[in-house]
Amino acid sequence: MASSYLFLFLCLFLFFPQLYASFSSSGSHSCSSLIQFKNSFSTNQTNAAYLSCDDQSYPKTDSWKEGTDCCSWDGVTCDHLNAHVIALDLSCSSLYGNFPSNTTLFLLPHLQKLNLAYNDFNLSKIPSEFGQFTSLFYFNLSHTGFAGEVPSQVSHLSKLVSLDLSGIEEQLTIDKYALEGLVHNLTEVRHLFLDGINMSSVNAHVFMNLSSSLRSLSLAGCDLQGKFPKNIFDLPNLNLLNLRRNQLSGQIPRSLGNLLQLTHLDLSWNRLSGQIPRSLGNLLQLTHLDLSENQLRGQIPRSLGNLLQLTHLDLSWNRLSGQIPISLGSLLQLTHLDLSWNRLSGQIPRSLGNLLQLTQLDLSENQLSGQIPRSLGNHLQLTVLDLSGNQLSGQIPLSILNLTQLEYLRIAENALEGSIPDEFFTGLKSLESLDLSCNKIEGKIPQWMQEVGNVSLTYFNVSHNSLTEVEHFPWKNIESLDLSSNLISGNLPIPASTINVFFISNNSFNGEVSSLICNASSLRILDLSHNNLSGTIPQCFGNLSNSLQFLNLKKNKFYGTIPPTFAEGCQLTNFNLNGNLLEGPLTPSILNCNDLEVLDLGNNKINDTFPHWLGSLPYLQVLVLKSNLMHGSLRVNSSKSSPFFSKIQIFDLSNNYFSGPLPVRYINSFKAIINLEKIGSTVSYMGVNDDGGDFYTYSIGIVMKGQDRELVKIFTMWMIIDLSNNQFEGGIPEVFGKLNLLKGLNLSHNNLNGGIPTSVGNLKSLEWLDLSSNRLSGTIPNRLADLPFLSSFNVSGNQLHGHIPQGKQFNTFGNDSYQGNKGLCGFPVSKGCNIIEPPPPNVLEKDGSKSNITFGWKVVLIGYGCGVVFGMSVGYVVFQTGKPKWLVNLVEIQHEKKRRRKSKDGSRSNGRRRI
Ligand SMILES: *[C@@H]1O[C@H](CO)[C@@H](O)[C@H](O)[C@H]1NC(C)=O
Ligand SMILES: *[C@@H]1O[C@H](CO)[C@@H](O)[C@H](O)[C@H]1NC(C)=O
Ligand SMILES: *[C@@H]1O[C@H](CO)[C@@H](O)[C@H](O)[C@H]1NC(C)=O
Ligand SMILES: *[C@@H]1O[C@H](CO)[C@@H](O)[C@H](O)[C@H]1NC(C)=O
Ligand SMILES: *[C@@H]1O[C@H](CO)[C@@H](O)[C@H](O)[C@H]1NC(C)=O
Ligand SMILES: *[C@@H]1O[C@H](CO)[C@@H](O)[C@H](O)[C@H]1NC(C)=O
Ligand SMILES: *[C@@H]1O[C@H](CO)[C@@H](O)[C@H](O)[C@H]1NC(C)=O
Repeated sequence: MASSYLFLFLCLFLFFPQLYASFSSSGSHSCSSLIQFKNSFSTNQTNAAYLSCDDQSYPKTDSWKEGTDCCSWDGVTCDHLNAHVIALDLSCSSLYGNFPSNTTLFLLPHLQKLNLAYNDFNLSKIPSEFGQFTSLFYFNLSHTGFAGEVPSQVSHLSKLVSLDLSGIEEQLTIDKYALEGLVHNLTEVRHLFLDGINMSSVNAHVFMNLSSSLRSLSLAGCDLQGKFPKNIFDLPNLNLLNLRRNQLSGQIPRSLGNLLQLTHLDLSWNRLSGQIPRSLGNLLQLTHLDLSENQLRGQIPRSLGNLLQLTHLDLSWNRLSGQIPISLGSLLQLTHLDLSWNRLSGQIPRSLGNLLQLTQLDLSENQLSGQIPRSLGNHLQLTVLDLSGNQLSGQIPLSILNLTQLEYLRIAENALEGSIPDEFFTGLKSLESLDLSCNKIEGKIPQWMQEVGNVSLTYFNVSHNSLTEVEHFPWKNIESLDLSSNLISGNLPIPASTINVFFISNNSFNGEVSSLICNASSLRILDLSHNNLSGTIPQCFGNLSNSLQFLNLKKNKFYGTIPPTFAEGCQLTNFNLNGNLLEGPLTPSILNCNDLEVLDLGNNKINDTFPHWLGSLPYLQVLVLKSNLMHGSLRVNSSKSSPFFSKIQIFDLSNNYFSGPLPVRYINSFKAIINLEKIGSTVSYMGVNDDGGDFYTYSIGIVMKGQDRELVKIFTMWMIIDLSNNQFEGGIPEVFGKLNLLKGLNLSHNNLNGGIPTSVGNLKSLEWLDLSSNRLSGTIPNRLADLPFLSSFNVSGNQLHGHIPQGKQFNTFGNDSYQGNKGLCGFPVSKGCNIIEPPPPNVLEKDGSKSNITFGWKVVLIGYGCGVVFGMSVGYVVFQTGKPKWLVNLVEIQHEKKRRRKSKDGSRSNGRRRI
């Protein structure tokens, strides 16, 4: 064959010498065009943004040298007959720069194949001149960073067999006419990839006339709208249909079951409803079926058990109910099975144990019950197993410990009981993440557990169980360890120095905290709260604060002083020493913690004056000093106008010995409570960055409406001032009336005198007001009746007189609110005023207004069970969509749902939560 071509060549050159001339000139002409094309771009890999070619990228054009025959260049193919460049494959070549619309590439009219995929043309427009390549049958511009409209001239390429313009969502758009042109003209096309091109302006019916020879149609992330079109995609030769991440609604048409050649069907991330048609069970060639993230209902059709070629089945995030069909146990090729986040019930069928090829099995967040079948131990290939969020009971089957490939094991939030088996198992050597939280597991974490992922384990969560003892936890590379809410006693174990996040709260750990813990130089979150730890706080915590962001020692028995020195560059944002026996003092070195948002020193024995210098911490939102021995006046000596507490939202100095007048100077500068712009902003929680990144929740004990409450999250809209139980004297200054975002004001049990300023009537957000046990005189301003949310009001134990305001909220307050004010008259006190009283309000009205008040209050209280852990893990959790792995590890579990919902590109990692 080759020799006969050679013969032909020789003959041609012998008999037609002018042809040789034309060959060489055409050839060198092409070569110089290519060189010019190459020179339009840099190949600086750090600039090219679209290089995800599995690290296969390299600049092919670097080997192109002038003066050599371009037909031998990397990526270039010539027609041997006349040396025309007929194919150019520069995919994954790190080309970066604007794509010139007059590029010399267009001087290669004989191109039949052109692949420029995975380069970065810097949001250039696709030149319409591409329409001149009329010989082109393969055209690939996927992930090239082109932007703007797809030119209609692409439809001139009527010989195209394969067209790939897919890319990052929304960078390219195509209008109805250009798309109609494509569908109409590309009669030969077999592979059409238009993923990510914005088609929101077109109706899916445009695809009505697609060539029946089509094999692949991929329209993922095209923003296609409207009902899923019936019969449109009924192309008999179709192998691949990908409509992932569109806005298609309505039912999945039964007729899809006629596409007998389909191997890949992806309708995920749409709004499809109704049932999964049984007819999908006809698609016997199917290897990949993804219907996840829709609103599909009803049972999983048994017929799916016919799809014997299936390797990937994802029905997660729907509303599927009923049992998992036993027939799925026939899908012996399955490597990936995800049925999570549905409403599936009944037992996990033992037949799933037949699926020996499985590497990922996710049945989490359903209503599955019964025991975990022992047969799951057959899946020796499993790397990911997630059964959490069900109602599984019984013991953890020993067979699971045989899964030597397992990297991610999660059985949290079930009703598993019994103890962690006290035997030695050699399996689970590769485990990276283990979550057994929220079960009823008891006994100890046995010594042998050190063999579990000894080197690999980075995340371990056994919180919310009934464990009593930790024998050992020496995991070498542990980053996140959560033992909280168990019954564990004994000395505080010191984790490996790799630890980032360490929770042992709500246990019975006792003894002193060894300063060895300060070797954990990457520790960011340390929560030792609610234990019986005693002794002094290791002084080295002050140095640790270079990494430490969250330090919670609440409710222990620490005594002595607060660590005196906080290092420069201190990262602390949340520092909680509440409920210990500390004598203080707090030193100004805490100002090194510039980012401090929450400081809670309440319920200690700090005998000191008010640390006024805290006022210069620029982000301090919560200051709790309540129930200490603090004394002295809050009068500010300096008249400097430097900002004081300008971000403060919760200011609690209650139960101390502060004296002198109320701190007008501070109240004037509580800008966060005064700021009008904040009104009506959506409810968010403290600690949320502007970019929605980090998410810290704080737990703060606060007296609300006369009752002790533990706030797990602090809404940014919660503005509370509590100065009660002190020795403040003098009048209530008018300036309180400026705090228009204030929700709660408690000035009770002081020596305040004078009248209640009418300006209090400006506090339109106020929900509770306690002025009781002072020496206030005068009348209750009628304007208070206009406070729309006021639901708790107490002025008892004063010397007020005159009419009690009537109507609205005041109809809901009882006698208690007014006791001990001999001069008050009118409803609800028994003493009448000397006028005709309005009739007492009827019950309905009363109830109505009460429920109005409480509406909008979602007090998140501590002590909730595990079922609602989602979204608010015990008061100290971080939500993080971005990078640092230590955060992701911690939060991924609780917030997986949100993350998946939010994740725009939808590239969730198939049950594998590691990033
Ligand atoms: C690549 O680009 C980066 C950033 O623009 C620049 O810092 C670097 O020097 C460039 N490298 C080369 C080899 O040109
Ligand atoms: C990429 O585009 C930006 C904005 O149009 C432009 O400033 C920049 O010079 C371009 N870079 C290259 C290498 O062409
Ligand atoms: C393309 O046009 C630019 C100006 O728009 C010009 O500088 C450049 O020389 C032209 N390139 C070619 C190959 O014609
Ligand atoms: C386009 O090129 C990229 C990179 O080589 C490749 O992954 C993709 O499959 C190609 N598209 C088609 C339709 O061949
Ligand atoms: C179809 O292609 C021909 C050239 O091949 C072109 O003239 C015509 O405009 C195209 N039709 C559409 C609808 O784009
Ligand atoms: C673990 O696997 C071995 C075979 O490799 C088997 O003999 C043993 O019974 C399995 N253990 C459990 C608990 O299933
Ligand atoms: C605070 O300490 C001083 C001595 O330093 C003492 O006189 C005073 O009684 C203490 N205050 C309280 C309330 O214990």
